[in-house]
Parts: sequence; C-alpha cells; structure tokens
Amino acid sequence: MPLRPAMIATLPRPSTLRPSPPPAAGAGAVTLYAALADSLQSLIGTGTLRPGHRVPSVRRMALQRDVSISTVLQAYTLLESRGYLEARPQSGYYVRARLPSQAPEPRMARPMAAPRFVGVNDLTAEVFTHATDPRYVPFGAACPHHSLFPNKKIARLLGAVGRDDPSLLGRYAMLSAYEPLAREISRRYLQAGTPLAHDELVVTVGCAEALNLSLRAVTKPGDTVAVETPTYFGILETIQSLGLRVLEIPTSPRDGICLDALREALVQHDVKALFVIPSFQNPLGTSMSDAAKEKLYQLLVEFDLPAIEDDIYGDLHFDERRPKPLKAWDTDGRVLLCSSFSKTLAPALRVGWCAPGRYLERVRRLKFTNTLGTPLVLQKTIADFLRLGGYDHHLRTIRRAYQHQLHLFSQAILRHFPEGTRLSRPSGGFVLWCELPPGVDTLRLHRDALRHHISTAPGPLFSVKDRYKNCLRMNCGLPWSDAIETALRTLGTLAKNQL
Ligand SMILES: Cc1ncc(COP(=O)(O)O)c(C=O)c1O
Repeated sequence: MPLRPAMIATLPRPSTLRPSPPPAAGAGAVTLYAALADSLQSLIGTGTLRPGHRVPSVRRMALQRDVSISTVLQAYTLLESRGYLEARPQSGYYVRARLPSQAPEPRMARPMAAPRFVGVNDLTAEVFTHATDPRYVPFGAACPHHSLFPNKKIARLLGAVGRDDPSLLGRYAMLSAYEPLAREISRRYLQAGTPLAHDELVVTVGCAEALNLSLRAVTKPGDTVAVETPTYFGILETIQSLGLRVLEIPTSPRDGICLDALREALVQHDVKALFVIPSFQNPLGTSMSDAAKEKLYQLLVEFDLPAIEDDIYGDLHFDERRPKPLKAWDTDGRVLLCSSFSKTLAPALRVGWCAPGRYLERVRRLKFTNTLGTPLVLQKTIADFLRLGGYDHHLRTIRRAYQHQLHLFSQAILRHFPEGTRLSRPSGGFVLWCELPPGVDTLRLHRDALRHHISTAPGPLFSVKDRYKNCLRMNCGLPWSDAIETALRTLGTLAKNQL
C-alpha cells in the first residue's frame, strides 16, 4: 500500500527527529542519515508506518526532508539491514513485518517412543462450533473473519452461474474436476514454480475431503502415519476416524519438521505415510526452506514413503515470493498435494483439490464413492472469480491484513499474557502459537475463557500424547478492535490467576 499523503504529512521534519548521539568531528552526514533512519524506525514502532506500507520514494523523501538522495538511500539501507524495510525490485521500499523479537520462540517437543491411536476428542467439535457462534470471540478455530472475503462479488457470480446456465443445477458433477477451474488452479501452481497438468487434479469438498481421500489412498486401518508435532487437530480427527496410528515427529517453530528425527523414526518404525504442512504450518506458522523441502523429498525417496502435503496456507505469504510446495520436487508422484480456497476466498463454498500424483486413479475412485462429485455450480463460481481477475489483488489485500493482525496480536499478547510467554513468528498465514509459563493449564483456561465468551484452541488438541498443556493456538484472522484487545487482556488475566 503506498503511503497516503496524510501519513506523509505526519512524518516528523528533521528538527523533530529524535536526538542522535553527539557527532564525531566530520560525522555530520553520518548523523543525518542515522537520524532519518531512527525517525522512520520509531514511526514503524508506533504503527504509523505499518507492515506492507510503501515508504516514499528516495527522491520524494529527499525533497520532504530537505536532505540529499544519498542520505535517504543510506537511511533506507540501514533500515533494511536492521530488518525494518525491504527493497522490492522496481517497486520501492516497504515496511517489513517484524514480529516482536524480544519474546523467545516456543520450544520443540521430544520424539515419541511408539505410534499411538488417536483418542476421541469432543473439544475439537466444540472449538469448531464456537468459531461460528457470534456470541464468542473466536480465537479458537483457524477461521478468518467473514469481512475479509469478497462475499458480495462471490454472491453475484453464484447468482449469475445459476441464471446463465440453470441446467448446472439439474446435473450431477461426475467428472473429477470442472475443467476451467482445474486449468486456473494448475496455472497458479505453474506461476509458483510447480508445473501440474489440469487433468492431474481432483476437485474436492474442501481441503478436508482432499486429506481424507489421500490418507485412504495410501494407508489401511492399523497403519502408522508420521505427522509433525504440534499439528492441525483436524487431521488427528481424520486419522482417528480411519483407524490409523500416529507417530509425532518433533517440529521446530523456526525450520519445520526435524529431518534427523524423521529419519530416526523411519529407521525404527514401519511408517506408511507422512502428513506435513511445509508452508506456514498450522499451528506453528513455520515455513520450511527450499533446501529443507528438497532434503525432505530425498528422505521420502530413500524410505519409499508417500507424503500428504497440506498447502492450504501457501498463498498467504508475507514475503514477495510464494513458497514452492514440496510437490515442486516430486519427480515420481509420491506427493499428494491438498489445498482449498477456504482460507483465501470462500470458506462456505467448500471447494478444495488434490493433486495425488501416482495415486490419481485411487483418489478418483475414492472421491466417487465418497461424494460422487463436487457441485458444479460452486466450482464454476470459483473458476469465474479466478478467470475474471481480482484474485491476486484480493490475495495481496488479505495478506497485508493478516500480517498486520499478527503483528498487533503478538504485541498485545506480550502486553497482557504472563511474563515468560513464548511466541511463534510466522512469515505467513494467520495463526500464532503461544507457549505460556509451565504453571498454566490451557484446558482450564479454555473453560474459564468460555464463561467470558472467548473461545480458544488449547495446546493438547494438537497432539495425541498429552503434550502442550501450557500452549494455545490463537486465530489472528480477526480485524483488530477494542473488543479483541479486551478479550486478550481477559485471557491474560485468567492465565496469570492460575500462576
Ligand atoms: C491445515 C489445515 N488443513 C485443512 C483444513 C480444512 O480445510 P477446508 O476448510 O478447506 O476443508 C484446515 C482448516 O482449518 C487447516 O487449518
């Protein structure tokens, strides 16, 4: 977002810059650029310049501040090296998202001795129910606020689909995918460095169905599936419903799944598949580097293991580049890529997809027996939205919103939660993982918070092994408001009362 004139007017003039240390002899120019950098840094600190904002061009800033172009360039370079600004080629300098670095990051779990079946957890259904109940502040489920989606445009397209071709309402969708939608999806993956043919795709009812079919395609009841820990609780429910066992692999909030621990587990146990969220992992927000994804793929080949990749947050990156999915390295079809439009465009339409690689025929057949097909009207609505354009613009808008919200949530959590709280630093998506001090029991906190009409997602939901008793995942996909700040303060007070 370019800086609006009103904001530019609020940039302090040189005379109001924070005082710099007294200049050494001949160091006037040094002081000037450092002072300019400090003043911009404090505007970023106070939120006047927000993550994603474009700062004035070098020339414009030089005119505004009555300094030379080289002074501005030096100041911008200094802020870049401090991590406050990023230069985008042919576009300018932008404020970079900086999640509070003073808070330590959550710790990594220890490996598991043996695979386990998943216990039934009534809490999962409760968290999902509260996510849509307007009486609750929905910190629990990872659902962005509905105001962040282009609902009116989607509604118009949905209406037009029925009007233009009413026969779509009277026909079964028997094919794996509505071709124009599959073409749009494969075109977008190509842009992200992952060539996928449109006829390799099966369109599903949300990512949830894609994951369900993929698990069924590569396992049978009693088999063991390796997962990151902590991991998305929905997959644990699905694994439970299919009679599979889980082996949790330690996952770092900074680098993603620990590849050494995974290798060790594959040597020791008979694992039949891996479930992994390599980009903006839920709940940690971690994104694996390209090098780590490549190594992970080599490990899959070495142990002849299929991987179910959940890429649902891949489009919600805060850096310039969309992370490549693990599928980009897949040369022999062992990665089943799953995703949907639920976090980016229209959760209510429940349109997702799977690129199952060598398991295509199996997934097609399972899709057929599961729900026959995904409603054509819904597939065409999304295809029209993608075709008519505006999706990239919309994605840019929500990425900025999520990034800004994560920033505000992080700061408020550090203000209100007990001292010693550790926080993840996601570079995409919209969830935060908080590790509170060991004395806090988040299951109890969850029940106490419900009495204040605040729903949360307690840590134990994200594991089958009684872990994360003092952890919480926070949904930050909610526009900032006084009510959010108040709810965070209440949560913090309830947590402090336990200590
Ligand atoms: C990691 C992950 N995968 C899958 C899903 C389910 O996606 P969908 O709503 O498209 O079924 C979610 C929803 O929260 C999720 O967080």
